[in-house]
Amino acid sequence: MLGLVQTSLGLSAEWLRDNCRCGQCRDAVSGQKLFDLNEATAVAEIVESPHEVTVVFDDGHRSVFDRAWLASPVPSGHRDESTKVFDAGLVSASWPAYLDDDAERLRCLDSVLRNGFVLLRGVPTRPGTVLEVAETFGFVRETNYGRLFDVRVVKSPNNLAFTSKAISPHTDNPYRDPVPTLQLLHCLENATAGGDTAVVDGFAVASKLRTVDPEAFEALTRTPVTFSFSDATTFLSAFRPIIDVDPADRIREVRINNRSMQPGREHGTEFYRAYRAFRALLTEAQLSFRLEPGDCLLFDNTRILHARSGFSATGSRHLQGCYADIDALASTAAVLRRTPVAELAAMFDGPGGAAYLGEPVTQAQHMLLAGGKAVEAQAPDHLVAAALLHDIGHLVADEKHHDTAGARFLSRWFPPAVTEPVRLHVAAKRYLCATEAGYLEALSPASVRTLGFQGGPMTPDEAEDFAAGPYAEDAVAVRRWDEAAKDPAAAVPAFSRFAPRLERVIRPTRPA
Ligand code: OGA
Ligand code: ZN
Ligand code: ZN
Repeated sequence: MLGLVQTSLGLSAEWLRDNCRCGQCRDAVSGQKLFDLNEATAVAEIVESPHEVTVVFDDGHRSVFDRAWLASPVPSGHRDESTKVFDAGLVSASWPAYLDDDAERLRCLDSVLRNGFVLLRGVPTRPGTVLEVAETFGFVRETNYGRLFDVRVVKSPNNLAFTSKAISPHTDNPYRDPVPTLQLLHCLENATAGGDTAVVDGFAVASKLRTVDPEAFEALTRTPVTFSFSDATTFLSAFRPIIDVDPADRIREVRINNRSMQPGREHGTEFYRAYRAFRALLTEAQLSFRLEPGDCLLFDNTRILHARSGFSATGSRHLQGCYADIDALASTAAVLRRTPVAELAAMFDGPGGAAYLGEPVTQAQHMLLAGGKAVEAQAPDHLVAAALLHDIGHLVADEKHHDTAGARFLSRWFPPAVTEPVRLHVAAKRYLCATEAGYLEALSPASVRTLGFQGGPMTPDEAEDFAAGPYAEDAVAVRRWDEAAKDPAAAVPAFSRFAPRLERVIRPTRPA
């Protein structure tokens, strides 16, 4: 059974081997893959249980997979081209709410990812603030225009943006490769007649072009064109199609700018007909509005075209802009969207309120106290997480062995540095009872009772094996906080107090 042979799980042996999550195949802290698949792998045996699938490979390696993890959907990185940006009109938010409220911030960042843009209102009109806006979700992309650029009328402008002329719908810096994927425009002053703004969803319009004029769509996706910019100190040039599609033929980028497009001599009637057809549809789909002082438009520069009408020379108009990239914005949104902490909090709130095997505290109180002990001991984040979550297995339905059940449950989100001490915290009790005088005597009555069916104190051989394991010390540390966390009179820390530490040790559920 070599090569691409599918196992009975519908997954190749290679995929399974490559995705093993054991402590030998993944780094304990980062969760990054240590194992490097170089040779053909075959599956020798598959052992299935209700919650786990154990795969034994021909070299003897055993990989245990959580069924829920195997069945979980793989997230797609593609931005949905079918979204109709203007169905929702202008998506806007107030700057103070954006700053103070994570949910509001996520709504705004999601709007950029899904609709292509968001309008933040009430951003202080202090010059330079546009950079602070970019820094709330990512990194400023410095260019030949500087970290930020001033859009206002100047003498001898190197770009038509710095005149009072109308500017037709365009994406910025198409002559750059890679192109800045995000743009911000912050209005400091707009006291002229004219100078209104318009935006258009390039994805929605390109998608419409594909339907109404497939030849034009083809021409614009298959014909690269040169865009260039030059001034005294800069010469930039990129050769790209106006509409770019991914390998699945989905629209992934629109690059269009009349000012800097330099079609070659080979760009004949067919190209220009297609270009005009696209431009006509873009013009129809524009959404116009006026930027007021304090407005900051944040948009996907690979999707949303922007434009302005001409304005009069009297009265002044001043915008500041900067570029940034959408990967960091998507990352910030993904981190804000992370749900494990919320899910764990809900478990502590709900099932965690249950009595804990004859102890005078509830399961949740017990775990919160154990986490608190780890914090007091200035333990690293992963051990605080292990202490806080060590008995989570009790809260997972119908589990006999709460240590292994807990570790398996947590492995969806946490690396072995967290899950291994959890898996070993019962073994650590048996170890301490065997090796430390007075330990057993100090256990709570309930803990002594469970020790019986957990196998009693370890034999000297078992203790030696246990102590030689890589996570023995951490498991023992967790165990000591566990024992110290049963005092009904102790002040119980809130779950939210642990959230930042948990966030820091949570890993993506699937490697990218
Ligand atoms: C720009 C631009 C629009 C405006 O600077 O890229 O398009 O409203 N400016 O001045
Ligand atoms: Zn522009
Ligand atoms: Zn416990």
